[in-house]
Amino acid sequence: MNLILMGLPGAGKGTQAEKISEVYEVPHISTGDMFRLAIKEGTDLGKKAKSFMDQGALVPDDVTIGIVRERLQKDDCQKGFLLDGFPRTIAQAEALDVLLSELNKHIDHVIHIDVPQEKLVERLSGRRICPTCGRAYHVLYNPPAKEGICDYDGAQLIQRDDDQPETVKKRLSVNLEQTQPLLDFYKQKGELVAVNGDQAIDQVFADIQEKL
Ligand code: AP5
Ligand code: MG
Repeated sequence: MNLILMGLPGAGKGTQAEKISEVYEVPHISTGDMFRLAIKEGTDLGKKAKSFMDQGALVPDDVTIGIVRERLQKDDCQKGFLLDGFPRTIAQAEALDVLLSELNKHIDHVIHIDVPQEKLVERLSGRRICPTCGRAYHVLYNPPAKEGICDYDGAQLIQRDDDQPETVKKRLSVNLEQTQPLLDFYKQKGELVAVNGDQAIDQVFADIQEKL
């Protein structure tokens, strides 16, 4: 199954992607995670992406499309994939169409996790992530068993650099502007399924499974 997960910052894309990827056995491809890894490793890609991410802006389309193009050609995508946070602009969506037709693939479903805007700031400010495995927790809604420590690898949890209040505001406004045209794009193609993301994490996942 070839899937796209859409949603505003904090909607729960990463949280649901982890579950979908496990149950449907498809690789979780998050452009945000790929950029964060590149920044951590100090690669050229990381250097390019960092200034945009720190400001809450989008990384330029050519850079983002380039990394997805490379990633989708890896062997583990043969039986399916789950894109999280890509495409985020119409130019990216059109480039993805071209790439998929070259690879003789198509998108099965675009899942839109819909959460009222006013809930997102609280989700992002309470988020803590594991610097080792990237898993996301929330201080209230999804706490680790031991405060501040990752359940899976025991690492000390941290806040994401772009979860500071000013950057969150910018990310939300940038993404709000881009989202509606993209939703229309996939609605027209008949690939869009909407899920109510303003429910407990497991209920959102149950709804996604039902739609799939
Ligand atoms: P990216 O990493 O994709 O960030 P984002 O889109 O802002 O989304 P988030 O990862 O913040 O939120 P999420 O939806 O994954 O939520 P999560 O599951 O963590 O991108 C970062 C940056 O990279 C961008 O700003 C841009 O600069 C660049 N970039 C990436 N892709 C790009 C592209 N295609 N083009 C250009 N630039 C790009 O959940 C959030 C919190 O809520 C967690 O604490 C979680 O525990 C909690 N939570 C989750 N679900 C629930 C629930 N149902 N109820 C209560 N709490 C919940
Ligand atoms: Mg995410």
